[in-house]
Amino acid sequence: MPEHTSSPSAPAAVLCGVAGWVPPRVVTNDELAERLDTDDTWIRTRTGIRRRHIAEPGQATSDLAVEAGRLALRNAGFDPVGTDATGTDPVDAVIVTTTTPDRPCPATAPAVAARLGLKRAAAFDVGAVCTGFVYGLATAAGLIASGVAARVLLIGADTYSTIVDPLDRANAIIFGDGAGAVILRAGDNDEPGAVGHFDLGSDGTHEDLILVAAGGSRRRSVDGEPTRAERHFAMRGNEVYRHAVTRMAASARATLSGAGWKTDDVDHFVPHQANLRILHSVADDLGLPRERCVANIDAVGNTGAASIPLALADAAARRVIRPGDRLLLTAFGGGLTWGSCLLTWPRLPPPTHPHDPLVPYGKGADAPS
Ligand code: COA
Repeated sequence: MPEHTSSPSAPAAVLCGVAGWVPPRVVTNDELAERLDTDDTWIRTRTGIRRRHIAEPGQATSDLAVEAGRLALRNAGFDPVGTDATGTDPVDAVIVTTTTPDRPCPATAPAVAARLGLKRAAAFDVGAVCTGFVYGLATAAGLIASGVAARVLLIGADTYSTIVDPLDRANAIIFGDGAGAVILRAGDNDEPGAVGHFDLGSDGTHEDLILVAAGGSRRRSVDGEPTRAERHFAMRGNEVYRHAVTRMAASARATLSGAGWKTDDVDHFVPHQANLRILHSVADDLGLPRERCVANIDAVGNTGAASIPLALADAAARRVIRPGDRLLLTAFGGGLTWGSCLLTWPRLPPPTHPHDPLVPYGKGADAPS
């Protein structure tokens, strides 16, 4: 899709709140190595991951989404406990982007909105696997540009631990659970926080590289119980790796050239946290110093649709991202899907730290190039 910015007369979507939340339970590489044929060194050097947070049994995606959503509303200065005295909701729409909805039906967003105390906000899910947050940003920007909504709560939330086979060492080491949220309000294209210059794309001919075979209409439940493999997340990691590097770099370039930005104009590259080696390869390909790559994958793993907002919340909490800094967001995921956009970081109260930091930014982890 050609890089796109909304017409100058339409209101822009301006980021005015951010937050992240991860379940308290930490699973280290060593703990995984107790049940899987793997070890801390392999995981760290191949992925940059040192630990991840995992939902408790019974804890669903909406539970994480509600926590992040409430914190984001508070960060934006909105009443986090529902409608005001006049019965007005603090946001007009709630979008949850996830690959692990609470159930196939209904969408997860209406329950999240209700639990945040909202009475009538529009609420729906967006599915674009790990690209979901950037697709969600574009959707929110569209709602705002068209005048359908003036304020949107966008939450990226995933509990991959509910679909990854715990005995699958290739995937169990990569994914963690978490949620990240932003509030977008109607504003001007030239003010800090305005998101724009979207580049979105997909290539469904590679749908088989990342999938859960059962649970939808293709593999019907009425045809008998799905096998263990069909019920779980499957990924051809090696091929995904190569696509991720080339697609993310191409998407980032399309967005930069559409906006007339040079690589050097980017203060922080905030990619989907897929694998630290992927992030560094994309940064190298773009000619961006690796220190400008925001990476918290060491502490949380790959959290799917939550990864970019969680990285934003973490970096903002640690004052790594400061008001006026120019950000390039780039994601890649199953589908295949990819997307990028730009924004200048607005002045916000620093959000709560979503998790304990492990190592300083830019030092990332000891993954080879
Ligand atoms: N511990 C130890 N060995 C492992 C392992 C683990 N957890 N997982 C796989 N291996 C083994 C493989 O079985 C293979 O062994 P073999 O050579 O004897 O067959 C060997 O390590 C190499 O496997 P390979 O798949 O080539 O490793 P890799 O370097 O590509 O790393 C991933 C595997 C999954 C970490 C890597 O492919 C990756 O990160 N892919 C992208 C994943 C991603 O970002 N997905 C999200 C996109 S949104």
